Amino acid sequence: MWIDENGKLTPIHRDDSPTEWMAACYSDRPLITQLDDGMGGGEGRSTSSASMPTVVAMMLDALDLSPGHRVLEIGTGTGYNAALLAARAGAGNVTSVEVDPAIAERAREALRATGRVVGVVAADGGDGHAPAAPYDRVLATAAVRRVPYAWVEQARPGGLIVTPWGTPFHNGALLRLRVHGDGTASGHFGGNVAFMWVRDQRPPPGGAVEDRVRPDHPTTDSTTDLHPFHALSDFDASFAIGVRVPAMSSVVVFDGDDPASGAYTAYLMDPYGPSWASWRVDPGATEFPVRRHGPRNLFGELADAYRWWSEAGKPAHTRFGATIGPGGQTVWLDSPADPVG
Ligand SMILES: C[S@@+](CC[C@H](N)C(=O)[O-])C[C@H]1O[C@@H](n2cnc3c(N)ncnc32)[C@H](O)[C@@H]1O
Repeated sequence: MWIDENGKLTPIHRDDSPTEWMAACYSDRPLITQLDDGMGGGEGRSTSSASMPTVVAMMLDALDLSPGHRVLEIGTGTGYNAALLAARAGAGNVTSVEVDPAIAERAREALRATGRVVGVVAADGGDGHAPAAPYDRVLATAAVRRVPYAWVEQARPGGLIVTPWGTPFHNGALLRLRVHGDGTASGHFGGNVAFMWVRDQRPPPGGAVEDRVRPDHPTTDSTTDLHPFHALSDFDASFAIGVRVPAMSSVVVFDGDDPASGAYTAYLMDPYGPSWASWRVDPGATEFPVRRHGPRNLFGELADAYRWWSEAGKPAHTRFGATIGPGGQTVWLDSPADPVG
């Protein structure tokens, strides 16, 4: 399936439209190859794709792959990226793990057709793939909120792990970790990449705000001079807010579904609980009504995180980094000595 400029999905069938199908394959667009885990009847969530070629190239560049490196890829998808990895690292040096057995089988067939020798394993990539470890490079092509420690354990000291990383509020950035001899890995965020989540780290679907209105929960109205644009649309601000407030998601609903109207409501939601807040923008306004509902003050948490980021000098996301160890993941600003969130 092809995504147009407005984010609309258009099905393309190879047999019905071979010219359009081939043009899509050679376009610089992500191509969706599965919805709703292949189950049908869902909300139309994209669950597998061939990633946008320029993003694939950017991630391969970050991976700094050399001939002879042993590589673990998480998220085989179409097998396109696995074929590129094998072309660079060499036959038999790439293991690619795909959680969906039907997708894994299709990728095996595609890879056989290209003559690229890749070990495709149908399993949860969160466990890595110990039988082919240690790896010099680990590349995830699905986003995580927490880097699985198995990836660190199965990589050689000096090796690199490259993964899309995000929060329910901000998906996401690219995280590039260097593996150390003490069993940890650390490195900085960089790059703007939005990937589908690894299956077991997907934030739950937001659902409708109306379904979250409960008569026994208080509703509070106030106003703010903070424009949603500054918190939601500034890449670095929203990255930092997501790090500080990991259990919050947002959605923007334009009046009449028309972004040109300039009138919209931003909703903040707790993906794991009933709290929500609405934040209203009307054209020309300088004060914005906020309504909050439920036990958490989501707008207050967002405003605190935005203030923290502003007072820290509005750091770019590239100044943030993460350390992964057996005890979990820590996100920091500038240095591991300054943990955030
Ligand atoms: C963006 S696609 C990968 C694109 C792929 N590398 C390519 O070149 O076509 C993400 C893939 O990750 C897979 N995936 C999601 N969670 C996974 C997990 N826990 N382990 C392994 N694969 C996973 C999805 O089924 C999907 O096929």
